[in-house]
Amino acid sequence: MTLPDAPRINPSILAADFVNMQAELARIATADFVHVDVMDNHFVPNLTFGPQMVERIQATSPVPLDVHLMITDPDRWAPGYAELGAASVTFHLEAAADPVALARRLRDIGSRAGVAIKPGTAGAALYDILDEFDQILVMTVEPGFGGQGFMPETMPKLRALRDEARRRGADVWFQVDGGISMDTIAQAAAAGADTFVAGSAVYGADDVEAAVTSLRDRARAASLES
Ligand code: DX5
Ligand code: ZN
Repeated sequence: MTLPDAPRINPSILAADFVNMQAELARIATADFVHVDVMDNHFVPNLTFGPQMVERIQATSPVPLDVHLMITDPDRWAPGYAELGAASVTFHLEAAADPVALARRLRDIGSRAGVAIKPGTAGAALYDILDEFDQILVMTVEPGFGGQGFMPETMPKLRALRDEARRRGADVWFQVDGGISMDTIAQAAAAGADTFVAGSAVYGADDVEAAVTSLRDRARAASLES
């Protein structure tokens, strides 16, 4: 698969109409990936869907799947999402028993391996294992719900991780998720993000395609300036 260049815009279908998913997926055909939030009502206090739904999204989506697992015991469940064809599978560092072994397994199956950290989790825990991942997700809200406010205090951690990856020559994407909008995307891009999840900013817009284009343009301008 040819991977899209940065900046990448990944609309989150958490903000879509769940009973019209096929039409909602068709609306984001110009995006880079579709961001698929799997929540288990245990790791986070909210519940979405599991592998059966993700399999149908995989069969229906015009763009590849970026699966974000907000679940306990990803060591057991994450490989199944890679097996059904997701382009990337991201699990939470806080939930994984053996993050390196799990990342290797995801890559062996053929998916990109991602690791996510909540706002309160230090980035330094990842420095020595950056090479094991294809993408790092720095959460910019507490995971669990769409429509929350962006937390700018997560930006120094993102910048430090990005700088550390450059120092080590690690080829890894930096993703942000939560509260990304026309107003906040520039600061995340300036801090080093290259991949942007946006739920309400995309699906809440009158013109979804125009929203994807504007977000991408703003991220590009801000990353060139930084
Ligand atoms: C939150 C999810 C996000 C969510 C973002 O836990 O991981 O992907 O959909 O929604 P917005 O962009 O509305 O903050
Ligand atoms: Zn997410």
